[in-house]
Amino acid sequence: MEIIITENYDTMSEVAAGIISKTIIGKPDCVLGLATGTTPIGTYNKLIEYYKNKLVSFSKVHTVNLDEYVGLPEEHPQSYHYFMHDMLFDHIDIKKENIHIPCGLGDDLEKNCHDYDAILAEHPTDLQLLGIGGNGHIGFNEPNTPFKSFTHIVELTERTRHDNARLFGFVGSVPKQAITMGIVGICHAQKILVLASGENKADAVHDMVKGDVTPACPASILQLHNDAVLVVDKAAASKL
Ligand code: PGA
Repeated sequence: MEIIITENYDTMSEVAAGIISKTIIGKPDCVLGLATGTTPIGTYNKLIEYYKNKLVSFSKVHTVNLDEYVGLPEEHPQSYHYFMHDMLFDHIDIKKENIHIPCGLGDDLEKNCHDYDAILAEHPTDLQLLGIGGNGHIGFNEPNTPFKSFTHIVELTERTRHDNARLFGFVGSVPKQAITMGIVGICHAQKILVLASGENKADAVHDMVKGDVTPACPASILQLHNDAVLVVDKAAASKL
């Protein structure tokens, strides 16, 4: 895994946005795998800036997102549909029909999973952006998810629900389930770009890079990917 250690969150975001922009410029109709969470917000802000300065266009780009909560309508401010539109899509020239986000609504969630895998099969990802959970999760693939997993429904761990409670106000309102791209879907990407910022990610970053490759730390599978880049600030890199 290539590791780029940056001074702080802002430089991490700038480096990440540079890598993504290079992918788009090299292949204007590329497929980007996108992530939610606090970590990529600075990267999305930079991409919006590059778009507004006409350095990059998303007019032919397709996107596939990692995950979504189960049971939250798209217009719910904490849904990942809402997040992606608010943080990126509403500010760039991407076509609505080129945006793909797993659906956590309806009576047949298994069908939603299969439908999303079909979308992924039609859209081989050129670059997958990832954050990492404090427990080593990628997407919502929580510890001990089999490496061979496809899109599936997960029961969120208490750790993840607590980590995300700040966004919902209190932990009781964090959904208990999510739909997530599986580890197979993530690892099929041609290139993987993992971001981590802050001391609270230092243990997870250590386990991802230097620990055993084990489902106990889902991100550790990235050690086996042949083009994975970690862009990490000094605080998150402090245990490497
Ligand atoms: P965060 O989440 O960016 O909000 O820290 C990352 C993740 O859980 O994948």
